[in-house]
Amino acid sequence: MKRIMILSAAAFVLSACCSQPKFEGPVYLNPNAHVEERVEDALARMTLEEKVGMTTAQSKFSSRGVPRLGIPEVWHTDGPHGIRPEVLWDEWDQAGWTNDSCTAFPALVNLAATWDKEMSLLYGRSIGEEARYRKKDILLGPGVNICRTPLNGRNFEYMGEDPFLAGAMVSPYVKGVQENGVAACVKHYAVNNQEFQRTQSNSVVDDRTLHEIYLPAFKAAVQEGGAWSIMGSYNLYNGQYNCHNKKLLVDILKGDWGFDGVVVSDWGGCRVSEEAILNGLDIEMGTWTNGLRGAASDSYRNYHMADPYLKGLREGKYTTKELDDKVRRILRLIFRTSMRPEPNYGRFVCPEHYQAAREISAAGVVLLKNEDNVLPLKVAEGAKIVVVGENAVKKMVVGGGSSNLKTAYEVNPLEGLQNAFGDKAEVVWVRGYVGDTSTSYNMVDTGQDLTDNRSPEVLIAEAVEAAKDADYVIFVGGLNKSAHQDNESTDRYDTFLPYGQQDVIDALAEVSDKFVVVNISGSPVSMPWEDKADAIVQGWYGGTESGNALADVLTGKVNPSGRLPFSIPFKYEDGPIKTERQYPGIKEEGDQFWQTHYDEGVYVGYRWYDSKNVPVQWAFGHGLSYTSFEYSDAKAAKASMKADGTMKISVNVKNVGECDGHEIVQLYIADPVASIDRPAKELKGFEKVYLKAGETAMVTFEIDAADLSFYDVAKGGWNAEPGEFQALIGSSSADIRATVPFELK
Ligand code: BGC
Repeated sequence: MKRIMILSAAAFVLSACCSQPKFEGPVYLNPNAHVEERVEDALARMTLEEKVGMTTAQSKFSSRGVPRLGIPEVWHTDGPHGIRPEVLWDEWDQAGWTNDSCTAFPALVNLAATWDKEMSLLYGRSIGEEARYRKKDILLGPGVNICRTPLNGRNFEYMGEDPFLAGAMVSPYVKGVQENGVAACVKHYAVNNQEFQRTQSNSVVDDRTLHEIYLPAFKAAVQEGGAWSIMGSYNLYNGQYNCHNKKLLVDILKGDWGFDGVVVSDWGGCRVSEEAILNGLDIEMGTWTNGLRGAASDSYRNYHMADPYLKGLREGKYTTKELDDKVRRILRLIFRTSMRPEPNYGRFVCPEHYQAAREISAAGVVLLKNEDNVLPLKVAEGAKIVVVGENAVKKMVVGGGSSNLKTAYEVNPLEGLQNAFGDKAEVVWVRGYVGDTSTSYNMVDTGQDLTDNRSPEVLIAEAVEAAKDADYVIFVGGLNKSAHQDNESTDRYDTFLPYGQQDVIDALAEVSDKFVVVNISGSPVSMPWEDKADAIVQGWYGGTESGNALADVLTGKVNPSGRLPFSIPFKYEDGPIKTERQYPGIKEEGDQFWQTHYDEGVYVGYRWYDSKNVPVQWAFGHGLSYTSFEYSDAKAAKASMKADGTMKISVNVKNVGECDGHEIVQLYIADPVASIDRPAKELKGFEKVYLKAGETAMVTFEIDAADLSFYDVAKGGWNAEPGEFQALIGSSSADIRATVPFELK
């Protein structure tokens, strides 16, 4: 008691002598005033021209401030895997800086594959620090569009096929970024699930599917992550462009979800002045590719929300109601970022960020198959490891579209293995196949020359020859970030390995009895050669530390715990998309747009495969470890729950193998008797648990009625129907270890 009194007396003295000096200037400049007070004060001082000025770009990646009032311009940057190198003021060409080589973090699909919310927070904090250092206010990411088709060119920038997983993983990223006074800009809102005709395709989606599959991750980013900005997508929904889509922006985002941040258009996504003004767009970016086009001096003034808006206001076509709302949001973002009370410098290309990139990437590597425990590599002194394949050496940070980065360095898989073994083993590389030899993208050059004019036969013969006396053969192939692979603005043609890689795998399998295949990709790759490999590893675009992270898993330094964030089908045709109407959509004669019908409804990914009993090659949530886990004593805390209550479901998990490791325990909910057709099961919880060999832990999930609900179109809201439910606890969507029935009263 005495100690408490002394402390509180000290606190009183401190507060009396160090209280804030009275702020003499305008409220908006007072960093300690409430953000909303600052917003109102600044708004009241602005002219009409200054207000309109804030709603459009002034360069490729910045929008206007109010110089007269000392309110800074807003700097935007891609996103989402690192801080994009500077481009020229009005053009996409590189600005030629020598100090903008960033830490490349793993692709977001790699982050999603960690199923680890701590990793997501670490990612957000680290990239947020890099953004702050580079004086960026808005980071254009993360992306959470659902992997509806394995062919979507941007799956690598997103967080998989499940809305719950993407929602749980996006929020910590957003929080981590924003802790640095940088706004995350969650993209691309919404139902933007293909690159084919991305600016000309209208997504035709029913309300239930919209709410159950395509919106939850955005909602989580807004309501749980507290995102300060969101990017409208290029496509249309309901026949209206998404950058000014009334239902998505005004009714749902700003209305139902209470979003108080800024809606930024995708670059060139704003198409119609009146809609943009009235339907919730706040900042228009990238309209026309070259900022100088269309006017002698400053064509940004010709943007839909610049001079045409001002003219409309002056002529009385619009009132300032929408304008003030837009400006309030932009000011709020500025007071949360560049004019926030606690400025910080951030950090850039530092050991901590390299370490974070390595840890996150390794945690997402998925061990798909491990026959006879061929992995981890058991390498004796003087052993020979033959690494085959272009992806073992190809620099992968460059490419992919707007997520293209210039990185401080990049460790490829070959170098990762060489670093791991040093002089202990001979690690040699042979080409195997020629894929895509381009090494420059958006004028960022890797300096690598991958040209090789030898025929496939010669390359395969060379690989086979080298493999014959190897202790291990590790094929590193997959996709890359060039057109029609994992790449913005184009989709893939099929789900198989390109460039004749299967022939190389077939030939190597003949001569190697310890044959490991590493598939590097950002979207599902079917593996008809599965039986030929002793071990199969799903790697990703891991960024700066990619090769070291992969080597950490292959050598056993890191026990794998990554899990697939999407299903991998045997072949594309097994999936839910059966018609051209569904994908890529149909353009009728005379119609301006492609109509893409989401006829499969909520049956996306494992929801389709499980409900229709279609076998998959690798199930959603699948991933092996070098140890194994047993589940026991799964139970619900009570037999039933009330509609306004919660329910605890627990399970004991024991590490029954010989090494320590992480298990990802997954909770799915099934509603066997419902008034509508529901998927066989849906993910509603997951926990990553670390167990030493022999150790047991109890994992507990808490669910409520929201986890049992479907979107009821008749009610226009969520509906949890009383009756029997099942909690399915397992290690993947296809490996359910326990079923716990319970009732909703
Ligand atoms: C992409 C966005 C990106 C923007 C700015 C667009 O083409 O769709 O994701 O943030 O360009 O580079």
